[in-house]
Amino acid sequence: MIQVENLTKEFKIYKKQPGLKGAVKGLFSKEADIKKAVDNISFNIGEGEMVGYIGANGAGKSTTIKMMTGILVPTSGKCIVNGIIPYKDRQKNASQIGVVFGQRTQLWWDLPLTETFSILKEIYNVGDNDYKNRMEFFNEVLEINEFISSPVRTLSLGQRMRADLAAALIHNPKILYLDEPTIGLDVMVKENIRKAIKQINQEFKTTVILTTHDLSDIEELCDRIIIIDKGKSVYDGSIEKIKDTYGYMRTVQTFVKEINAAKQIDISKEFGLAEEDAVTWMKDNSLFVSFNKNKISISEIVGHIMSKVQVMDINIKETDIEEIIKKIYGHEVKL
Ligand SMILES: Nc1ncnc2c1ncn2[C@@H]1O[C@H](COP(=O)(O)OP(=O)(O)OP(=O)(O)O)[C@@H](O)[C@H]1O
Ligand SMILES: [Mg+2]
Repeated sequence: MIQVENLTKEFKIYKKQPGLKGAVKGLFSKEADIKKAVDNISFNIGEGEMVGYIGANGAGKSTTIKMMTGILVPTSGKCIVNGIIPYKDRQKNASQIGVVFGQRTQLWWDLPLTETFSILKEIYNVGDNDYKNRMEFFNEVLEINEFISSPVRTLSLGQRMRADLAAALIHNPKILYLDEPTIGLDVMVKENIRKAIKQINQEFKTTVILTTHDLSDIEELCDRIIIIDKGKSVYDGSIEKIKDTYGYMRTVQTFVKEINAAKQIDISKEFGLAEEDAVTWMKDNSLFVSFNKNKISISEIVGHIMSKVQVMDINIKETDIEEIIKKIYGHEVKL
């Protein structure tokens, strides 16, 4: 369904020089830095798959989505979506994809939703019967009837996101791109949106590509994740495999008094371990160590911390997927 091969996108960033003189000079100067936002990425996605595309801020997620949707032209490499090259065949591409950018709406701000939907019906040439059925379905899973007569600008963020999702699906696209569809939403609305996405995928075999910073989205929806870091793909596979591979990881949290002194502690350095075998970080008044239990014991770690600072309480757990993924971003661990 989607073939991405050695896909790369570079942005030219023109250097700004300070002051008015610099600004004028900047108009004529051709000096530019090249920023590789997406760096030689390849993957295939089959029909009906639901894939999570994740990475830290600035990793290149949105840039990849924009190339897949035809908004951006790749610097090099290939992107073929359902047989066509998105940026070359925009119209055909538009008929087979739906897109939601959580950060901004695609809806007409001043129009009531009903009107927006009828316009989209015309644009995408949706037949009367299909339209009726789909609107019924959206009402069932997204409960859009509650606010269908209101102008978009009066909707709450959660309502707007539900409306955006419905609008992206009105022509029953084969592929749905969701760029942070649950951003800023409360837990209840997040849950509704996830349910709706799941149902759409199951009912219509829609292929879904989803970026998010909320790993619960991924755990609930995606069998497969692709992790990118600084534009490069660092993992492509199941969440289960990550969990299995990292099943030996544990995390210990120690509540400490002397925060500044605790910040100096770095277990991997102090025990001469590889960086990925013991990652130390501080959050609020806790010192966290995520470690490989085959390489170092809990008592060694806690003993060491207690020799440096006063420890008030200790909490130990299996390292969760979020920490593992952060570790993968941070150290480009290949699985
Ligand atoms: N139009 C542009 N011009 C120059 N640089 C850009 C442009 N768009 C994106 N970038 C840069 O490319 C990199 C990747 O950006 P991108 O928006 O794809 O990241 P992201 O993974 O979606 O991040 P986030 O999680 O914050 O949304 C960033 O360093 C960003 O600053
Ligand atoms: Mg983004």
